[in-house]
Amino acid sequence: MLQKIHETAQWLKEKMTTHPETAIILGTGLGQLATEITDTYIFEYKDIPNFPLSTVEGHSGKLIFGKLGGKDIMAMQGRFHFYEGYSMKEVTFPIRVMYELGIKTLFVSNAAGCMNPDFHVGDLVIIKDHINMFPEHPLRGQNIPTGPRFPDMHETYDPALISAAKMIAEEKGILLREGVYMGVQGPTFETPAEYVMYRRMGADCVGMSTVPEVIVAHHCGIRVFGISIVTDLGIEGQAIEVSHEEVQIAANKAQPLMTEIMREMIKRA
Ligand code: HPA
Repeated sequence: MLQKIHETAQWLKEKMTTHPETAIILGTGLGQLATEITDTYIFEYKDIPNFPLSTVEGHSGKLIFGKLGGKDIMAMQGRFHFYEGYSMKEVTFPIRVMYELGIKTLFVSNAAGCMNPDFHVGDLVIIKDHINMFPEHPLRGQNIPTGPRFPDMHETYDPALISAAKMIAEEKGILLREGVYMGVQGPTFETPAEYVMYRRMGADCVGMSTVPEVIVAHHCGIRVFGISIVTDLGIEGQAIEVSHEEVQIAANKAQPLMTEIMREMIKRA
């Protein structure tokens, strides 16, 4: 595992002409940000040694290097989900490589169902903490010595970055919520009873990504900032049917605000 990480990082380092300390996972709602990256050079996942291959046909996935908000950045276009059949090691492999490349701050986004009755579809929710419900832990197995065997998980979502986001939102008049994200394996959306259970367990939002990558980033000492877009509601007594299409439509609508916040965050990071 370690050797593969080194090999991949070395392959990239030999080709890189910039030294980014900021990485972005272009999850749902951040696709547009990719079009704002300038001075780009790009590697398709299929050409990068040891990188997992995307299961979605016609979308190999790309690592995009370039400039955004005056900063060198690297961006993952296309992420690996546990429900697609990837192992946790594969899901989090790119994060291990990011660490080797010198990444210090990671920005992530996702689409999420929402159980908090005060939130609405289209709301942006700063992830202040998470609950890991994935059936396999991404740090299971021999400890990779970027961090301890038993890592502390307080302040996994960097408080200074959260404060910065709140300031930016206030300046720009954007409503930003704050909540706990529950990471689940999917691919089913929740039953009404599951939404109720997750709410009682202390979560505001639920989704099928992010938690594995964030755990590994934290184990590598990478600062993390994440935002969920509420794409559907699982509120007790009013849970309604949800489809992938509805999730996409809601995410696309909220995209401009998400892009604005993240662009500004990267500038100031
Ligand atoms: N549940 C899980 N994952 C999701 C949801 C949801 O309701 N919405 C978007 N991703």
